Amino acid sequence: MYSADILDENKKENSEQWNIKASLKINYTVKIIQDLFQTDNSHIYDMCKNPNANYSRVVIFVDNNVDLFYGDNIKNYFRQYDISFVWYPISGDEEAKNIDNVLTIARKISDSGLLRRSEKIIVIGGGVVMDVVGFTANLYRRGIPYIRIPTTLMGQIDAGIGVKTGINYMGNKNRLGTYFAPEATLIDPGFLKTVSQRHITNGVSEIIKMALIKDEHLFHLLEQAIDELTPQGFSSYGSVHQEIFERAIDSMLQELEPNLWEDNLERIVDYGHTFSPSLELKSNTPLLHGEAVAVDMALCIALSFSRGLITKWDAERCIRLIQRSNLPIHSSIFTLSMLEEALDDTLKHRDGFQRVPLMNAIGSAIFCNDLTRNDLISALEYVNIFH
Ligand SMILES: NC(=O)c1ccc[n+]([C@@H]2O[C@H](COP(=O)([O-])OP(=O)(O)OC[C@H]3O[C@@H](n4cnc5c(N)ncnc54)[C@H](O)[C@@H]3O)[C@@H](O)[C@H]2O)c1
Ligand SMILES: [Zn+2]
Repeated sequence: MYSADILDENKKENSEQWNIKASLKINYTVKIIQDLFQTDNSHIYDMCKNPNANYSRVVIFVDNNVDLFYGDNIKNYFRQYDISFVWYPISGDEEAKNIDNVLTIARKISDSGLLRRSEKIIVIGGGVVMDVVGFTANLYRRGIPYIRIPTTLMGQIDAGIGVKTGINYMGNKNRLGTYFAPEATLIDPGFLKTVSQRHITNGVSEIIKMALIKDEHLFHLLEQAIDELTPQGFSSYGSVHQEIFERAIDSMLQELEPNLWEDNLERIVDYGHTFSPSLELKSNTPLLHGEAVAVDMALCIALSFSRGLITKWDAERCIRLIQRSNLPIHSSIFTLSMLEEALDDTLKHRDGFQRVPLMNAIGSAIFCNDLTRNDLISALEYVNIFH
């Protein structure tokens, strides 16, 4: 997995110094597969077959709600293929992203007696279980193979397809986390039929983000399909939904792949993620991730407009798209002082620079490093015009 070479010439420069250079190979597949757990679909079986033994075994961590809706069907799949499995339902709520849960999951892995490489972990659920199980898989024996099967829209177009893992710590989102690629991410849109409308809309927020900063055509598609962004719409996977879905994944991966370890802290996919991480957990009724991102995006649209980067017409069109998706554009916790605090925390996260992605047209973004208190005041005023 790792390759390292100690350069002779470096060593010769100084006999008491060794410079170690290593690179980490990343090779994983993100694949859309409908009817993943239908028994005539051997994809998962092929991935889980133990090449070194005549029996195969997996440890499955499954979101509680996914267990309720699909547990029997999924278990039946593994029985049909004669793969023995250990089945652990876990909570998919945001509060589950904590260190106690990590230790519980690690204990379950330990209890299962999993072989280090040839037996795999499978995680099935939303972004929460992707993050917390991925984090544990990375810590356990310094990394064991795992397969992601995201079951929410957020999971399928965002949380499940990159390499980030994490848990919340001391009231901060994802403050403890790692980069740890799965062996594969298998996406079955059929899971979306039982996701609540609120959680579908939550995922739509991240799709809108990709449209605003990278993909104007996706923006048009969203405008056209606005009334059909539903569990039924996404799970039936008709042509418009398929195009929206594939463009969202493709544009996200185009951004992630060349910068998987975030060496470059100027990331356009951080659009809508400047103020939202500090505020997501702070409200009395906490906002979902995508809802906090939507409020942040509206503010950033206002910032673009007030800086003359986009026209009034485009600013209104973008804000209306967010509103028409039933996402919030204001929050009582987005006060000036909270925004300043959030920007200050983001400054640390982005190593001393604001690096705030702002749209400079629909489908395009630039970075800004000089936002002032006055910018925030006028952006808040602008967003408040919309009801
Ligand atoms: N690692 C990353 O790159 C990344 C990216 C974006 C978001 N995230 C994280 O993802 C989390 C949000 O993920 P989410 O939006 O998927 O929420 P979630 O994981 O909390 O799932 C939402 C709800 O839907 C339920 N659920 C899951 N699948 C279901 C299904 N098929 N049918 C019915 N109910 C189902 C869950 O039990 C939960 O109650 C946040 O913690 C966020 O920080 C991580
Ligand atoms: Zn996000």
